[in-house]
Amino acid sequence: MDTKTVWWKQASFYQVYPRSFFDGTGDGLGDLPGLIAKLPYIRDTGFDAVWVSPFFKSPQADFGYDIADYFSAAPEYGTDEDILHLIDQAHRHSLKIIFDLVLNHTSDRHPWFIESRSSLDNPKRDWYVWRDGRKPMGRKPPNNWRSRLGKRGWQYDETTDQWYWAAFLDFQPDLNWRNPRVREAMFSVIRHWLQAGVDGFRLDIIGSIFEDADFRDNPFSPHLLPAEDRGGMFFQSSDRTDNLPETVAFAKDLRALVDEYTDPPRFLVGEAFGTAGTVKAYCGERENDGLNTVFLFETLQTPFTAPAFRKLTERFEALFPEPFTPVWVFGNHDRMRVLTALGGHRDKMKLLAAFQLTVRGIPFTYQGEEIGMTQLETDQRRCQDPVSFPYRRLPPFLFRLIMKITGGAICRDGCRSPMQWTAETNSGFCPPEVQPWLPVCPDFREVNVETEARESDSVYGCYRRFLDLRHRFEELRTAPMELLPPGDTAAEVLGYRRGGVTVLLNFSPQGRPGRPAPFAGSTICVSTRAGREGKPFDGLGPWEGVVLR
Ligand code: NOJ
Repeated sequence: MDTKTVWWKQASFYQVYPRSFFDGTGDGLGDLPGLIAKLPYIRDTGFDAVWVSPFFKSPQADFGYDIADYFSAAPEYGTDEDILHLIDQAHRHSLKIIFDLVLNHTSDRHPWFIESRSSLDNPKRDWYVWRDGRKPMGRKPPNNWRSRLGKRGWQYDETTDQWYWAAFLDFQPDLNWRNPRVREAMFSVIRHWLQAGVDGFRLDIIGSIFEDADFRDNPFSPHLLPAEDRGGMFFQSSDRTDNLPETVAFAKDLRALVDEYTDPPRFLVGEAFGTAGTVKAYCGERENDGLNTVFLFETLQTPFTAPAFRKLTERFEALFPEPFTPVWVFGNHDRMRVLTALGGHRDKMKLLAAFQLTVRGIPFTYQGEEIGMTQLETDQRRCQDPVSFPYRRLPPFLFRLIMKITGGAICRDGCRSPMQWTAETNSGFCPPEVQPWLPVCPDFREVNVETEARESDSVYGCYRRFLDLRHRFEELRTAPMELLPPGDTAAEVLGYRRGGVTVLLNFSPQGRPGRPAPFAGSTICVSTRAGREGKPFDGLGPWEGVVLR
């Protein structure tokens, strides 16, 4: 197999958060029949692959990331047949489909955990991470470890007077991956879905799989607040709970398992936290024999300027040379809507799309980004996201400030509002007389698929043009990337070559910034502005991005 042209290196991915995508049954919740009905939309927009957030049986305390049965659909989302139908229909529409795999933890209502917590000598006891508390009286947690959310990560359980470890929320107990039985059980989950035809997995908080075998305290760190490029917060690092060598080695075992399925080759993308250099380790040292790739969240803290994007691109290119491939992602169901982070500036959003869909790497678009959906303003007392609960009583100005600092991480309702399909009540997400599980964003009368599909200068029109060009121009999917020397373009323009085409992106409100000379005589293949295709290049408009030949 030619690894340079394997499908996942060429695909653009679309993330579906099923609860908020499309309600096929009329109860105000998105579901599997709804997603199946909208597969043609995803394909016609120009995406090649879909990542679906979890839809398995779950108490929905973390909206599906707390799984109680890895083999069955949550009844509110559909049936087990619907899952198979989803895979089949995706393939019929020439889409690859990857599932979300939560290996780190289960729900506390998973039968394994119910058994595990029932007694010290239960056969499932060692399936989770249990420890005695510290003396005197064992009333203190076993060590200082905090969860990814900054709270105490150990939960006391009265039945057996011990504590269990939960790297995320308290009702998501961590599985004990040092137990071979856990490995066996979870590997059979993976095999089950690979045999059912799924094309791969997005691996939820994969960096937290193992924690220190000796349960040593996490060391001091000088940082108060969390950041995209490091774990830990509140003056504690996450050295003993994140990205352990055992976890990095585990990525290779996963890859070996998934590589047993060759027709077609399958794909693994990991969600891990740390610098791009740290998380790259999951992909293998010299060969790409670990995870196929990992999300790189440093993008989210990059200022929207040409020099900052140049630096970031150079960095990812240096870290991910062939056979490695970087991921380019700017939003998901946990983060502030990217258009809101860009100040609601639609031309900036289009420029970002032009970058993401032409730079070397795998683009991931979160549902709604392609129409420029914005963050839903949420009343903190009504937030449904469990992460927000401890912050409910904060004065609103403080809540908003922490939201801003953390990029929306303390209440994720705002980026999960229903997908905006039409200008009708409820934006066509669910019937007009039904209340959707989260309010629809108030801008839905202008910002929706139906309206934007009619206007070629919309954000949606821009995505479609660039996705279409990606399909037509092989070099945009497979050619190496060559950044233009800064002297070739004005300082606020980022330029690069991919095979025979040149991409120019103007990160400024000024039109025609200097030095167009080397590109005079080129033809515009596509632009963030509608109606420029096929015209001779005459300089860049404000915030304009073009591909030239
Ligand atoms: C990361 C997921 O993206 C997030 O939505 C979830 O709450 C946590 N992992 C826990 O599974």
